[in-house]
Amino acid sequence: MNNIEKAKKSDTYSVDAHLHVTGKTKYLDDLPELQGTLFAKVHYAKIAHGKIKNYNLEKALNIEGIVKIVTYKDIPGENQIGGIIPDEELLATDEVHFIGMPIFIIVAESEIAAHKADKLIEIDIEEKEIITDPIDAYKKNQFLSSPIKFALGDTENAFNNCEYVFEGTANSGGQEHVYLETQGAYAIPNADGSFLIYSSTQGPTAVQRTVARVLGLSMNKIEVDVNRIGGGFGGKEDQASPWAAMVAVSAFLTNRPVKYILERGEDLQMTGKRHPYKSNYKIGLNKEGKIIAYQASYFQNGGASADLSPAVLERTLFHGTNAYFIPNVEINAFSCKTNIPPNTAFRGFGGPQGMFVIEAAIHHAAKEMKVSPIEIQEKNLLFEKAEFSYGQLTEDCEAQRCWDQAKEKYNLEDKRKKVETFNNENDTVKKGLAVMPICFGISFTNTPMNNARALIHVYSDGSVGISTGAVEMGQGVSSKMIQVAAQSFGLSEDQIKLESTNTTRVANTSPTAASATADLNGKALQDGCDQIKKRLSDFFNKHWEITSNDHASFLDNKISIGSQSIDWTEAIGIAFLHRINLSAKGHYATPRINFNKETGKGHPFAYHVYGTAIFECTVDCLRGNYEIDSVELVHDFGSSMNKEIDLGQIEGGMVQGIGWMTMEELIYDEKGRLKSGNLANYKIPDIYSVPKTVSVQYLDTKGAELAILRSKAVGEPPLMYGIGAYFAINNAILAFNPNANVPYDAPMTTEKVLIGLYS
Ligand code: MTE
Ligand code: HPA
Ligand code: MOS
Repeated sequence: MNNIEKAKKSDTYSVDAHLHVTGKTKYLDDLPELQGTLFAKVHYAKIAHGKIKNYNLEKALNIEGIVKIVTYKDIPGENQIGGIIPDEELLATDEVHFIGMPIFIIVAESEIAAHKADKLIEIDIEEKEIITDPIDAYKKNQFLSSPIKFALGDTENAFNNCEYVFEGTANSGGQEHVYLETQGAYAIPNADGSFLIYSSTQGPTAVQRTVARVLGLSMNKIEVDVNRIGGGFGGKEDQASPWAAMVAVSAFLTNRPVKYILERGEDLQMTGKRHPYKSNYKIGLNKEGKIIAYQASYFQNGGASADLSPAVLERTLFHGTNAYFIPNVEINAFSCKTNIPPNTAFRGFGGPQGMFVIEAAIHHAAKEMKVSPIEIQEKNLLFEKAEFSYGQLTEDCEAQRCWDQAKEKYNLEDKRKKVETFNNENDTVKKGLAVMPICFGISFTNTPMNNARALIHVYSDGSVGISTGAVEMGQGVSSKMIQVAAQSFGLSEDQIKLESTNTTRVANTSPTAASATADLNGKALQDGCDQIKKRLSDFFNKHWEITSNDHASFLDNKISIGSQSIDWTEAIGIAFLHRINLSAKGHYATPRINFNKETGKGHPFAYHVYGTAIFECTVDCLRGNYEIDSVELVHDFGSSMNKEIDLGQIEGGMVQGIGWMTMEELIYDEKGRLKSGNLANYKIPDIYSVPKTVSVQYLDTKGAELAILRSKAVGEPPLMYGIGAYFAINNAILAFNPNANVPYDAPMTTEKVLIGLYS
């Protein structure tokens, strides 16, 4: 067995599962508080758009235990946290732009004192026009960034040659991240004027950069440390930074440690979510059901400032045609500025919103053409060397194989017949079936972000410590990093210790995002391990006087060259005495990828991930209730290095996608007030609403060269299976009422089902 096979043998390895289930895992709020720690709390805007006329902090300041109330005037550096576009103040200066926008930071000896003071702050805000709808914003020319367009072929001409052309609208709603651990940070001032920040972030470097900017310090004065986070789902890619900046400013001003962990309600009010989208589509097909032309316009509800919206918008375009080849495509997208919290990254990063619309267009066409959407989907799947609208060609395309394997293994034809029979025999209960193929590009679409580093120390006793830029957030990247190092050195996992993610050990990191973390950091780790292996190999060739200078092999706790072999621990002891450098810094930058934003063309993705899911659901046609009976899918894991972790990602992502598409209804009213501001009126999937059965098959494939150990990225793609739930329910409604007029308007809540059934 070689090392790669071995690493894959330990494909159920987890460094922390036992800590999670025994409650021993430590999160940010579990850090012991230093003596003298103060507590911060934000006072935020209660009006969605307006001018601050005046305010009075006196009463609040009189509360016992209030140390300071920080306003924008107290910020030592820039009052600016916008990453892509500098359009977001940390604290409001003279205008507020959404309910939840931070205005003051209350710094107190206790959380209770901060709470009391918050209620006593008086502020007079003169309301201005409030926009919450992206189309309204579009009409009023309110944009966060420039529009983007992707085009392939000659769409206008192609429509003229189509047998069928259909037009419509498709909207998808926002989604709250509901990471179990809310946002938070803890800042500790050092004697030399530098700061240590513990943060619950996906992007330690983003936090470091933002804190430095707000404090007016250079980045080397800010150390950010992340042990792990209790979920992020994209919500902590950018939006972990403001809280860190706030505690840092407070620590700067008071010279005491300051901590802020948001309450759930505050987190729901103040942070951005998945972008709701409104979209128009036009789809053209020939007689055979081949899609010849496709046009779509996306109106993204970006919220009050840009945050990551321009990048999210771009990924919407990248996934505008999902797993289908369409020769003539034109997609336009607009990032619209509204008075709700700035929306942000969320698993799929705009891709799901892109895919929902093409699936709606296909569903619409099928309905009109009186065929099953399944026929149209199947006829238009991607194939080898098919061109995406952004110019990249498919390589090792698994779209067809995933589809075929799902169709065969799960007896799709049989299932279709059974559903039909069931529907013929039942009047008030109907079943619906839908197939959801996915294709998701892996790499940050912003090419420069696709790089990573890792630091490796082999200690003189043979034990190994590794650091990377990866943040563990439940997705299992820690276990994967340990597997990579163990595999590389031919050691067992328990000989490897993974350190916290820290900006002084591994600098200039991209956030843990885009599903690419294990690939990027794992490859950097391999590079570092290889450097140390090379030094050991050279050394032992000399030490053993081997003239041929062969490569040493690192297997089973041993270093071997030809007939010579030595136990790892002993070898390291000898190498140490001979002053061999036993530390290394690995670096990786994804080869080949590029993308030209001007032309909208390039090769942005290292590879694509594919899959096909079959959804079956049952709708109670008297009540509008539904159940997902089963989800059966074939997923392209490549050659999975950790089947347990990867399966967890599939199940979790898929359920999160079902939640987005069916029950999680994010509502802001016309005044920009969040109407779904707690977990009693914002319903997330629970054990009762998950599919009754879930079956996941591993596509038999060798995997991609650019994937770590050929084990493909798995974090985001499964979320998009959830779109299948929407269409399965839609089909059950059509089985009850073939003339039902159900607008493509996700989520498909029970209310919408009921209205649809009798429409
Ligand atoms: N899984 C868990 N348990 N918790 C999370 O927060 N985030 C998802 C996904 N899976 C997330 C998760 C998102 S949005 C991304 S981009 C990837 O994990 C990031 O990690 P990876 O690059 O290691 O896949
Ligand atoms: N995916 C996720 N996060 C990102 C990306 C991306 O493509 N680009 C910038 N942040
Ligand atoms: Mo994930 S949305 O890229 O953090």
